[in-house]
Amino acid sequence: MDIVGSVFRGVETIIVTTDIISVAAGGDGVGRLEDGRALFVPRTAPGDRVEVRVVEEHKSFARGRVKRILAPGPDRVAPPCPVAGECGGCAWQHLAYPAQVAAKTGFLREALRRIGSMESPPVAELLAAAHPLRYRNKAQVPVATGPDGGLRMGYYREGSHDIVPLPDEGCRLLQPAVDKALLFVREHLAELGLRPYDQGLGQGSLRHVMVRADAQGRAMVVLVTREAIPPGAADLAAAWVGQAGIVSVQNNLQAKTGNVILGAETKVLAGPDALDEQLGGLEYRLSATSFFQVNSEQTLAMLGAIMGLRPWKPGESVLELYCGVGTLSLPLGRLGLRLHGVENHAAAVADAQANALANGLPGLTFSVADALRAWQALPPGFEPQVVLMDPPRKGLEPGLAAVLVEKGPPELVYVSCDPASLARDVKLLAAGGYQLKTCQGVDLFPQTPHVESVNLLVRG
Ligand SMILES: C[S@@+](CC[C@H](N)C(=O)[O-])C[C@H]1O[C@@H](n2cnc3c(N)ncnc32)[C@H](O)[C@@H]1O
Repeated sequence: MDIVGSVFRGVETIIVTTDIISVAAGGDGVGRLEDGRALFVPRTAPGDRVEVRVVEEHKSFARGRVKRILAPGPDRVAPPCPVAGECGGCAWQHLAYPAQVAAKTGFLREALRRIGSMESPPVAELLAAAHPLRYRNKAQVPVATGPDGGLRMGYYREGSHDIVPLPDEGCRLLQPAVDKALLFVREHLAELGLRPYDQGLGQGSLRHVMVRADAQGRAMVVLVTREAIPPGAADLAAAWVGQAGIVSVQNNLQAKTGNVILGAETKVLAGPDALDEQLGGLEYRLSATSFFQVNSEQTLAMLGAIMGLRPWKPGESVLELYCGVGTLSLPLGRLGLRLHGVENHAAAVADAQANALANGLPGLTFSVADALRAWQALPPGFEPQVVLMDPPRKGLEPGLAAVLVEKGPPELVYVSCDPASLARDVKLLAAGGYQLKTCQGVDLFPQTPHVESVNLLVRG
């Protein structure tokens, strides 16, 4: 049938045939309905001709699911993972890597144009990853009861809370050490006798398994539960240390409902309470709950991009907001800068302080504070010449852009993991006199539509 964008309305189903013309920021391919409305279709690639089942219709757009690929586009590739079509862990394994890189550069440009109101945003070509698979140093995998009554571990099916079981080959995005430890845990988890948490029924306890590995392949396993693991099960889990590269087993308690994976309390069952990671010749202590960039190799590329954004001078004073364990602070401290880091997660600040000490960097100080109140947390006499900030996906706290406009130094370095919130903040900052000079994307998350970027804003 050679009808592009035509709609067939059955009793319940609407089936259309469309050509995919581009990829949208969320990662879906974009086709068109006959009336011109955009049709967003996950797991499609530009140039694909597809038969689509429309699942949602709105005034100006619709959403659909692929029923059949009639003709693949030039950028469609065979996904390396057997569950890539259903697992929500990564949305883009069907898209050739160069096309992913081009799309992400476009997302940054488009967000800064559309949301940031910039006519010609200064977006550089994305720094592509040398290794677009097997890059993740951390996995956080939900656990549930499977249809056979046994434990099921794997990522959620896109847009649902159904678990797609982890394939026996493991996850292609994980570093081999993470995969090895995760598959070992999958093998032995049932022996602990813990019942998976069912949010609907409010019963059970086991929620997630987190595995993080360092560059030496040493793995930390964290069992996230609603209630503390009973002593017998804790002893069995503790005995995992020494197997499959596991050096530490911990129990994190998360009693709250909702999507936040880790809770505030963590108990060590065996081994050290933190990993000693090495990155770029620096040592980082990483506690179970501290944030650390998941792609170590590309974090080095990102650090290179930050270093190249402006001439960092020894003795310069930098205020770093959202500093985490000091991933960005330590390399700047090594250049002889004075840096004060602010972060609201106390365990991460303790890690950052230990990291500065372990690496012999006395010019670095840190405090536990909300980014919004950073100026109140500064050491006496500390006057920042640059603010470096790396907020979570939602971008700067409401009100922080105004504080920066009022008190900020001549230069801001903004590390972003979401083009839309970056563009919103750039617009707020531009209204207060800061101009975006450079936006350099770095691919920290291959096989997914997520985009990291480092940005330089200058006042005046
Ligand atoms: C994207 S991470 C960046 C961490 C660090 N720059 C790195 O590269 O490892 C964001 C950090 O901001 C912290 N954070 C989130 N909201 C915050 C807030 N309102 N004030 C201060 N820190 C916050 C998180 O705990 C997390 O460590």
